[in-house]
Formats: sequence, C-alpha cells, structure tokens
Amino acid sequence: MDNKFYVTTPIYYVNDKPHIGHAYTTVLADVLARYNRALGKDTFFLTGTDEHGQKVQNAAEKHGIPPQQHCDETVLRFQELWQRLGITCDRFIRTTQAEHKRVVAEVLQDLYDRGEIYKADYTGWYCVGDERFFTEKDLVDGKCPECGRDVTAITESNYFFRMSKYQDWLIDHIKTHPEFILPAFRANETLGFLKKPLADLCISRPKSRLSWGIELPFDKDYVTYVWFDALLNYVSGVGYRTDDGKFNRWWPASCELIGKDILTTHTVYWPTMLKAIGLPLPKTIFAHGWWLTGNQKMSKSLGNVVNPMDMVDKAGVDAFRYFLMAEMSLGNDANFTEETFINRYNSDLANDLGNLLSRVVKLTIRATGGTIPAIGALNDDDKELFAAVDTAVATMSSSLESYKLDQGIASVLNAVRAGNRYLEKCAPWTLAKNGETERLHTVLASAATAIFKVAVLLAPVMPEKMGELITALGGNASALPVITELAGHPGISGWQMSDVPPLFPRIVEEKAEEAPAAKENKKSAKAEKKTAPAPQAEIPGVITIDDFKRTELRTAKVLKAEKVEGADKLLKLEIEVGSETRQIVSGIAPWYAPADLVGKNIVIVANLQKAKIRGIESCGMLLAAKCGDTLALVMPDKDIPSGTLVG
Ligand code: MSP
Repeated sequence: MDNKFYVTTPIYYVNDKPHIGHAYTTVLADVLARYNRALGKDTFFLTGTDEHGQKVQNAAEKHGIPPQQHCDETVLRFQELWQRLGITCDRFIRTTQAEHKRVVAEVLQDLYDRGEIYKADYTGWYCVGDERFFTEKDLVDGKCPECGRDVTAITESNYFFRMSKYQDWLIDHIKTHPEFILPAFRANETLGFLKKPLADLCISRPKSRLSWGIELPFDKDYVTYVWFDALLNYVSGVGYRTDDGKFNRWWPASCELIGKDILTTHTVYWPTMLKAIGLPLPKTIFAHGWWLTGNQKMSKSLGNVVNPMDMVDKAGVDAFRYFLMAEMSLGNDANFTEETFINRYNSDLANDLGNLLSRVVKLTIRATGGTIPAIGALNDDDKELFAAVDTAVATMSSSLESYKLDQGIASVLNAVRAGNRYLEKCAPWTLAKNGETERLHTVLASAATAIFKVAVLLAPVMPEKMGELITALGGNASALPVITELAGHPGISGWQMSDVPPLFPRIVEEKAEEAPAAKENKKSAKAEKKTAPAPQAEIPGVITIDDFKRTELRTAKVLKAEKVEGADKLLKLEIEVGSETRQIVSGIAPWYAPADLVGKNIVIVANLQKAKIRGIESCGMLLAAKCGDTLALVMPDKDIPSGTLVG
C-alpha cells in the first residue's frame, strides 16, 4: 500500500462568490484526506485560489479597484466558507503569493533556455470567458467550443510551449496507465481529443491586452497565460524549487480532483508541461460531474446558483457535507433541489441514523444505567446485523479506492437500516419486560457496536456529528480505530453511554398558508422551514405517521402468474396497479398455485426499490402474513380498483 496521499482541488477563480460546485470538490477532497489520515497514511491536502488572468482583471475593473485588492477581498469568501465547512487543508495557496510567482518564473526560464518555449506570430480565435485560444476548426458554429460564447480573431506575437511534440508520449501514457484519468470514460474523451494533431500551447499574453499576470522572465512585455501559471500550483504548493525535502515527500500527487469542464487543461496541458519540466505525473486525475439545479446548469442569469452557506444554515455543516457526498455518484452530474436535500436529511439522518442512536441510548440507560453490557452468544439475528456492518466496512474501503464514495455511504446506511430492523425484530423492550437479561444485553451491546462502527465509517464525512455520537456512546472521538481494522474490532462493551439531544433534528416544512399564525402575516407567502426535535421513537418501536407514509401501499390485481424455472419457491406475477402493469417475483409458490392467483386483488408495497431475484426484475413486494407453516396473502375484502392507496 502506498503510504502517502497527496490530494488537490482545482484552485478557484476569485472573480465571484463560491458556490455548491466549489464546495463539492473541496468537501470531497477533505473527505478523502480525512479517510486517508484515518487509514494511517501520511496525507497532504492542497487547495487555493487562481488569482491572475482576464476574468479576475475584469471583475476588479467592474468593482473599480486594483486587481490585488479585489483578490485580497474575494479570497476571504473562500477561506471563510472552507472554515465553516470544516475543511482540513494543509495549505491554501494563492497564485499571487511571491513564492508561487517565483516558481512559475523559474520554470518558464528553464523551459525557454532549453528551447521548449519559442516565440512566433499567431492568429487565433480567443474566448475571453475561458481565456483560451482556439483554431478555426475548433470552433462550433463560429463560437467557443467550450462555452458557446462569441470569440474574437486576434493576431499577435506570442510565446509557445512545444506541447505538440509530446502528443504520442501522452497517448501512450494514458493507454498504459488506466488509473491516470478517471472515470475511464473521461480518459476516452481525452484520447478522442488527441486524435487530432495537437498544437503548441500559447503561454503568453501581451501586456497591452492583459496586464494582470506573472511577467515572463525573458520578455517584460508579456505576462504568463493564466492556466500555465495556475497548473503549477500543484507543485509549487508542496515546495517545488523551494523545499526539496517536502517536494520529494509529496510529489507526484495521488489524486487531483477536477470538474469535467477542465479536463483538457488537466489531462493534456498539465501532463505535457510536467514531461517537459522533467517531473513525474500525478497518479490519478479524477473528473467529477456537475451540480445542476432543477436539472439546469447553474447560472447567475437564471438565478439558480446554490449558495452553500444557505444550506449550512438550514441543516448544519455535517448534513450538507453528507448530502454532497451521498447524492452525487462520482463522475456523473447530480441535481440539487432544496426538496431533495431536506428529504435525504430527514430520511437518512433524522429517521434512520438519529432514531437508531436515540433508541439504543435510551434502552441501555434504562437497562443498565448506561454501561454497555457484554455480548453473549450470537444468534442469526445478531450475525445478520454484524454481516451488514462488515459489508459496509468492506464497501467503504473499496469505494475509497475506486472513488465511489456514494456507494460506500449507501452501504453504511444499509447497515443503519439493518440496525433499526434488528431492534424491531429482537424487541429489546419485550426482552426487558420478560426479564430475559442476557439476551437483552447482547442485543443492546450488538446494536451499540454497530452504531459505533457506522460512526467511524461516517466520521470523515460528518466529523462533528460523528464525534458527538461517539462521545455519547462513551468513546473517545479523537482516538478512533483505523477503518480497515473495524471488521475485527472487539466491540464497545464497558463504555458508559450518556443521553444526547437529537443529533439530527427533523426539518419540518411548514406551509405558511396552513399555519394559523402565518396566515395573519400576509408578507410571509413563502414556505418556511424550521427544525423541530426528531420524533422521539418511543421504546416499543413506535413510528410516526410520517414514517408510515414513506411506505406506499396499493391494491393490485394479478393478471398472470407462473412458476420461476429452477426456483421451487418463486412465482412471477404480472400485476395491474391502476393504469400500470408491473412484474413482481415472490416466494409464495409453496402456498399458492399460479392459477389460484389470477384475477385476485392483493396489496403491494408500491414504492419499493426495484430488485433482481434470480435475475428477474421485481417491482414491489406483496403483503402476506405467515404463521408457522401457513401463509396468507393480504387481500381487500371488497372489490376495489387496483392502484388504490392503502393506509
Ligand atoms: N481556476 C480554474 C481552475 C484552475 S486549476 C489549476 C477554474 N476555476 S473555477 O473556479 O471556474 O472552477 C473551479 C472548479 O469548480 C472546476 O473544477 C469546475 O468544474 C468546478 N465547478 C464549477 N461549477 C460547477 C458545478 N456547477 N458543479 C460542480 N463543479 C463545478 O476552473
């Protein structure tokens, strides 16, 4: 195992306020950094700001202030947000820092001296927004191929980096290093781009056109192209040419996170620059997708730009971090709406995790005064719970290697749900009533151990809340076990629990028009959200009406039924649910012959996630009661249309 981990984010332009896209990459890098630290790896996490170039110069001009002042003011927004979001970067680099500027100038001089940079006349199509030149054939309908905006034809003398000569080498590197560009489809995108002959890269801007940049050391009339300057932050940020010990310790980077829109700069410009300089390439460049709002690209003109601070104010830092990590499947685009945010919060955090903790804490305090008892002999239910936790540990570890964090988180949440099912099934409240103390102790201690392991797995995503949780269990949040050792962890018997207020108070949406007080206030037309204590799950497994409403029960009519070949117990049913026809696979063959079912009305769980049973898709689950050897289907006692809601 590589025992160091160096992760970077793109450095953000200081022309505007940080938004959810910036927050996403930085939180992702933070989570990866925290996980790797937890794995015991030596970790360095670099982020920062990209402060030169046309965009920043334009923004400063718009505000009527010098560019450096504009940078100094705007950078604070990023730094404040990162502080609020609990970002544990080891360095925040700014490209206007003297040390970085010196490194850029030295690299330029070296490349110039070695003939890697030359001067030539050039006519190209320039996009101000992207700060890039394009050739005639790059343009799409005469517009910028990246952003679709107008481009301007410019002829001028400039300096060029001999990027073209590295084309074959780069293609070969990408093909022989499948982990270099991830996800794999992005590597294909870059290889597609490299099918056309690669041009040399214009790395200068005449000062007459743009003055806000690092002056070329060999020509005072020019400044450095902002991308050439910015990309070098990944090496200057860890001591390149200033601290050899530090640089050799960290470079090459383990993982450079980027958004999909800056793929070419990072997978073509950057590796060829490194090759010319004589440095090794980063191990992985991972391009994530975009956050959309309401399935649209975020833009100021549409007024749909999501401000991370607003979300943090609504649900807290950790809930926001959790949402970002759980909702976006790495590599793909994700859609942000406040509704999805609140729904996920209420269901995963308030209902599933929050309730599990509060039940176990209350039951243990009642049973033992809070001391977590010893675990006795394990039965199948206990083993099933621990198996779900072990799966979560394994999935989380592998998903970190493959950058599929959302899958790791989903499997941890499965373990949480298994914990709630375990309590329902083992009914510790009944064990307590019946005086079955030994079994009661095993159930409580097993559930507490499961919660502890879940908290360790989620700690890098929700450091504060998981710290509170572990403290409530009686543990030391600053001395957590290494994730890979969790599977064999002996459990937490003997710890002393203490009661905690709800970790994730449910967010209740109150429509102003429904609230009597709000009715009088004509101004408050908007829906208002406020937090309320999570439903205190009463000990004997009582759920709220909201919990029940999450399950959609509907009547259905059986249209066809047949046995599943090679599976004695399974029947495949075609059912009508209102206007829809669905297929359900169910293990009822020992009790019902297919012919007996056709035409019958049954009740199904209609909003159950689709599953594959023996390779056959099943969309829903039918309801049946089983007692001993008897199984009876739940059927409406009158004729009622299929698709009718049951509740
Ligand atoms: N300054 C350059 C990067 C230089 S790195 C050497 C830059 N800055 S940026 O501020 O415009 O964008 C920074 C990152 O934010 C990019 O990775 C970009 O993909 C990402 N995002 C911008 N909008 C986004 C979303 N809506 N969703 C997710 N990430 C997006 O590019």
